[in-house]
Amino acid sequence: MSGEKKAVALVVSGSIAAYKAPMVARLLVASGFRVIPVMTASAERFVGGVTFSGLTGEAVLTSMWDSTFAGEMHVAIARQVDVVAYVPATADLIGRLATGRADDLASALGLVARGPRIVAPAMHPQMWQHPATKRNVAQLVADGVTFVGPVHGVVASGEEGVGRMAEPEAIAAAIRSAIGVQDLQGRRVVVTAGPTIEDVDPVRFLGNRSTGKMGFAVASAAASRGARVTLIAGPTHLATPAMVQRIDVRSTSEMGRAIEDALGASLDRADALVMCAAVADYRPAQVSAAKEKKGADRISIALVKNPDLLGEIGARRTALDRPVLVGFAVESTGDQLLAYARRKLVDKKVDLIVANGAETAFAGDTNRAWLVDEQGDRDLGTLAKRELADLILDEVKARLHTAR
Ligand code: C5P
Repeated sequence: MSGEKKAVALVVSGSIAAYKAPMVARLLVASGFRVIPVMTASAERFVGGVTFSGLTGEAVLTSMWDSTFAGEMHVAIARQVDVVAYVPATADLIGRLATGRADDLASALGLVARGPRIVAPAMHPQMWQHPATKRNVAQLVADGVTFVGPVHGVVASGEEGVGRMAEPEAIAAAIRSAIGVQDLQGRRVVVTAGPTIEDVDPVRFLGNRSTGKMGFAVASAAASRGARVTLIAGPTHLATPAMVQRIDVRSTSEMGRAIEDALGASLDRADALVMCAAVADYRPAQVSAAKEKKGADRISIALVKNPDLLGEIGARRTALDRPVLVGFAVESTGDQLLAYARRKLVDKKVDLIVANGAETAFAGDTNRAWLVDEQGDRDLGTLAKRELADLILDEVKARLHTAR
């Protein structure tokens, strides 16, 4: 980050999830932000202000009527911050924001602030589903507010449903991307995305269910953080993200050649390779030049193994720490997922494996994911692919700090 520190007003309202807000403050401080904590009256019943002032080095603001403050507090604070984040946001606070109330510092700030507003709701699933909440959320979305979560899971009452606050990492990532931090400026990132398709004959092929959404999210996030991005995409209908150079490929071997070109023979043309593509492990031994005719009741197609693109680069990189290598692991065997992911980390000699279950990984806009590296496993919960993209790039960035 260059220049003056970016500043975040971290507004905490009264929900059990408030106990996780200090984690968000810590992550933002670690990212180099100035964090100004603001607490509603009810938030103070759930978590102590001392925690926030200790973590942020800032006074905790709780009331507009603090006579020691010179001037109008809500106006002065709004001018100093680049983003206002409500973490957690209760149903009540969401209602007040949606209707433009300004009866406390938390809501008044939202009316004065000019930058992005981020809301991380936390409430009982029935409150989240209530038509009144839905109306308020729709209004805030129409007003340009960004929502992070809530996610599905067990809530404070012990019941299960959508209402849990998003994980602190996901919230911090959304705040960073809203501010548009250019922390990958000048970095060259190669991303693969989508399926690869292996032709059987001129009309038939073998493929898989990958849509490319995850890889496109990584490419888009990297570009918005200032990186020079090459996106090598298997067949998909997705639009090319802004500021991204896209190379379309079809088969695994085409993808391999495109990666080779992008990284260069000595792997020095890129700082990171993020292999999101669901690469076909096998291809037909022969591709018929003419369409195969219908005939026998039972036929078989001989398949030969494709090269492991990521594994080959991992093996070639041995003495270097660049490019940073990130792979994905998708398994339908839930209980073995992390064990397989760890094996991939070692076998492919990569820095990070993003593990996700086959049930959630494809097609949707969210992903249930874990990060697996030599330090251990980190459960990220369910999060939007764009949020996951930013978390992956945070990991890449952390590894780029080591000198070549
Ligand atoms: O071994 P598996 O296919 O599960 O490993 C997944 C990871 O390896 C993904 O990052 C994928 O892009 C990459 N991969 C590859 N070449 C292959 C198969 C997978 O680069 N032939």
